Amino acid sequence: MLEKIEAISQEISQYTVLSKEQLEQFRLRFISRKGIVTELFEELKDVPPDQRRAVGQGLNGLKNLAQERFESFSQQIEALQESASSRPPLDLTLPTLPNLTGTQHPLSLVRQRIIQIFERIGFNVADGPEIESDWYNFGALNFPENHPARDMQDTFFVDKTAGSRTGSGDMLLRTHTSNVQIRLMEHQKPPIRSIMPGRVYRNETISARAHCMFHQVEGIYIDRNVGFKDLKDTLYHFVKEMFEPGTQIRFRPSYFPFTEPSAEIDISCQICGGTGCNICKHSGWVEIAGSGMVDPQVIANCGIDPEEFTGFAFGMGIERITQLKYVVNDLRLYTENDVRFLRQFEGV
Ligand code: PHE
Repeated sequence: MLEKIEAISQEISQYTVLSKEQLEQFRLRFISRKGIVTELFEELKDVPPDQRRAVGQGLNGLKNLAQERFESFSQQIEALQESASSRPPLDLTLPTLPNLTGTQHPLSLVRQRIIQIFERIGFNVADGPEIESDWYNFGALNFPENHPARDMQDTFFVDKTAGSRTGSGDMLLRTHTSNVQIRLMEHQKPPIRSIMPGRVYRNETISARAHCMFHQVEGIYIDRNVGFKDLKDTLYHFVKEMFEPGTQIRFRPSYFPFTEPSAEIDISCQICGGTGCNICKHSGWVEIAGSGMVDPQVIANCGIDPEEFTGFAFGMGIERITQLKYVVNDLRLYTENDVRFLRQFEGV
């Protein structure tokens, strides 16, 4: 009998009650007139007289335990119900929370569009390192050491002591994505027809018109019999696809150490339509890219025979194209993460 009492008091101690229904079950099982405790009291008369006292005490303890637990469970349930009813009622007619989907950064939008245009005419996308050796950024591209052409691109040097292929010992942040052109030509047999989008770095003071980090897409096409006409056709096609119908394009002779002949590409100003404004400095034209026929020496530097293969290359700044497409007049807006700026590109 004492063991039975012990087992039941264990059961009561471990019991949990989470709802009114469970509370009622507890009451019926342990406390009601037909409950276990009453039943045990009835069995008391069959207990041998010498044990009756101990069993009686045990039973009284059990009865008290059941009563205490019942009261504390009741309080818990009551408290639960009170806190539920103090919550504001659910209003199913309220509008839902706004769906804060992010937007694409304008530079990503324009980069994707550029890639799409060139992929459709057979260019693939190539990638390369942003921390580069002097050779890939300058040497292989015909920038002789100490040549003033290197000043065209103010360079961030990374580690003056690290080794490089030329032995000049300079590692740097690439100033253009032309390094990828060299790496491609070194590792791939022509035909090569690739574009290389990526970040580039120049040591410039940050202002509305200059930044120390920006983005370029360069392109290269090397094969037998590639001529200047192919360069012109390709870039005409690009301008036609990228900008407003009727946009004019012109090639202006220029100089790059790695192309010969070289040309800069201007388009009629997208902002004023060619009548003259701040963006085009009242000339009606804006420069969008550099280009030219790859210098035979650069092709030879990469182990390709320049007698057999020729090619063209071009390079443009994604920020500049974006400025013209979306009239962004301060380069700093691209990196400041101002949501008022970024939200304007929602759904573009
Ligand atoms: N690499 C040049 C620059 O960054 C652009 C360019 C690429 C010019 C290819 C000609 C050919 O200014």
